[in-house]
Amino acid sequence: MKDHHVVWRLALACAAVFAGFAEASAAIDLIPMPVKVEEREGTCPYDPGKIDYIADESVPKEGYRLVVSPEGVKVFASDDAGRFYAGETLRQLAKRISESEKVVPCVEIEDAPRYPWRGFHLDECRHFFGKETVKSMLDLMARYKLNRFHWHLTDDQGWRLDVPGYPELVRYGAVRSASVRHRCWASTGSKEDADKLNGTRYGPYFYTESDLREIVAYAAERHIQVVPEIELPGHVYAALAAYPEFACFPENLAARDPRLVWGIESDVLCIGNDRALKFMENVIDWTCRVFPGDVVHIGGDECPQERWKTCPKCQARIKAEGLKDVGDLQPWVTRRFVKFLEARGKRALGWDEYLLGDIPKSAIGMSWREDRVGAGHELVSGAAAAARGHDVVMTPTSYCYLDYGQGLKEDPFTYIFGKITLERCYSFDPCAGVPEEARRHILGGQGNNWSEYTWNEYDLQWKAWPRMLALAEVFWLGERKQGYADFERRARIHRGRLVASGINCAPIE
Ligand code: ACM
Ligand code: ZN
Repeated sequence: MKDHHVVWRLALACAAVFAGFAEASAAIDLIPMPVKVEEREGTCPYDPGKIDYIADESVPKEGYRLVVSPEGVKVFASDDAGRFYAGETLRQLAKRISESEKVVPCVEIEDAPRYPWRGFHLDECRHFFGKETVKSMLDLMARYKLNRFHWHLTDDQGWRLDVPGYPELVRYGAVRSASVRHRCWASTGSKEDADKLNGTRYGPYFYTESDLREIVAYAAERHIQVVPEIELPGHVYAALAAYPEFACFPENLAARDPRLVWGIESDVLCIGNDRALKFMENVIDWTCRVFPGDVVHIGGDECPQERWKTCPKCQARIKAEGLKDVGDLQPWVTRRFVKFLEARGKRALGWDEYLLGDIPKSAIGMSWREDRVGAGHELVSGAAAAARGHDVVMTPTSYCYLDYGQGLKEDPFTYIFGKITLERCYSFDPCAGVPEEARRHILGGQGNNWSEYTWNEYDLQWKAWPRMLALAEVFWLGERKQGYADFERRARIHRGRLVASGINCAPIE
């Protein structure tokens, strides 16, 4: 058993040498490219019902060894995910040779992911996509061996969860009386235009518990863990529209409407109000029961502190807890929720700002900023968080934000700003700048789709694909990736398949 392990490690370490086999072969157009591919003469009929599965504890987690010979197909794996990914590789390898017959080339593959976190993030608050779009995205994620669906379900502009016991959440939080009229202030060049409203009611749009359980099960069948995000203490305006008493100044929420324009809202959760904290605990407790995964995202980004400065309850909290000032309130509430999740056998995940202060090491960071942007809080870089002993998922704005432009000559869709080309995505290294000794804390990365300027499935697909192909290969291979030229060759083939299957995939120029 031990010897096998050494062989595996050697195989993975020698990836660069082995990948030469794959590069030499035009027939092997897999994405992500496996770690080691050896092509042989001949083919084997493709029949998913006739695969010989062999348990092999020497194969790493989520990995597989696939042996296709004219006699049949053998899959060696130590877990179900590995068996599943071998099946996905076979599906990609299979070629149709007649109306009713497919074959796979004879091949020997050894494969295992570099990173355990290979994610895609979807914001359903600014615009809502619905179950069918989510399922279609989960199908594509599985095809490319992505395994974490980070679902952004609560924000200033919309609350998408029908939580038992809190009927006002969807009554008020899941519907906006209007949205911004212009497709993008960046393209009008006028900040004034940015906030003009269209007068059109948006919603109510939300998921019931049974919808959520259906999506969780659908994802699990594809070896994808759903990571729900419940934002706190900022980005909660839609919840405050439902329950104004949980704001520092309830009178600011008199309209009972979520925030109508994009951007960051100043009215946030009142940290001094025990009932507000109890509300969040009840929501997160329910979330823990509906989502069986081991991680819950609790937001933490872009939380302005100005309301806390003049709120008597928040000031009383600072006194009672011996805190220095309002700057200590977010770390205080973060610690409380990290522990709340620990008590339920879960780990907290949050955007980099939530790691400011003394936060328990079980808390996972999601590194998005490379600079001090957003609400202006001091940056906690992914490298710094990892060096402090936090596990980190890397999602920097300059590589992983799918709502940024993709640098196409012509593009009918609107973006928030920036330019992240397909090649730029491919050049992403989640461990770049992270000290050697802290790299074991880098769990992987994720492509993020924020939906201020993404209205529907067609728009979403265009922004996600083909860039998610590049990120999927980065997360699977890491340092072992073989270069953009060969990736681009394969990406063109996959784009053709995506388009043929009805996916609105952007061109590769
Ligand atoms: C973020 O993009 N505000 C995490
Ligand atoms: Zn307050």
